[in-house]
Amino acid sequence: MNILLINGGARAGSRTRGLTEVFERELREKGISIRIFDVGVNLLPLFTGSKEQLEQPGVQKLMSLAQKADGFVICTPEYHNGMSGSLKNALDFLGGAYFRGKPAIIGAASGGGKGGINALNNLRTVLRGLYANTLPDQIVVDPDHFDGKMGLSDPAMQERIRQMTEELQRALLAHQTA
Ligand SMILES: Cc1cc2nc3c(=O)[nH]c(=O)nc-3n(C[C@H](O)[C@H](O)[C@H](O)COP(=O)(O)O)c2cc1C
Repeated sequence: MNILLINGGARAGSRTRGLTEVFERELREKGISIRIFDVGVNLLPLFTGSKEQLEQPGVQKLMSLAQKADGFVICTPEYHNGMSGSLKNALDFLGGAYFRGKPAIIGAASGGGKGGINALNNLRTVLRGLYANTLPDQIVVDPDHFDGKMGLSDPAMQERIRQMTEELQRALLAHQTA
């Protein structure tokens, strides 16, 4: 069982990265093999569709990790009511063959208030275009949920993430035995 976590927050100090790391710790505790692709670390070119771009190391890494993944955790910031441009750009390098039927769980970091849901709806629609099996549960974290060290201070949020990773595990097992 091999999970690819994609952090869609490129900013230094991105809370989306903090959220991705909470998922990472939860999965590691379960002994699940994980890989990480961080759009702020592995900077990708702007997708043009040219064949030359596919040789770029970051693109090669993304395609290789996505191909080997049995399932995905994808986290995005909400930027202007949508997912981040850098995450969408990364997903544009991947096609349905990388995602078809594989379970995915999604989370968003927002600025607070009622933010986050638009980014999740947007990401869910894009993942449908990639034929991923995006699980129904999802999470939004606000700045208030963080502890100042990019961990979560809110136990209810931590518990949600634990439950979501269990759902992902169950979906992976079902997918593998199908
Ligand atoms: C360009 C930009 C647009 C943003 N638009 C929204 C928004 O539409 N709704 C919202 O809740 N927060 C918005 N935010 C705040 C981010 O969601 C917030 O900073 C959150 O921590 C996730 O972003 P991060 O991973 O860069 O930290 C925006 C932030 C930036 C930089």
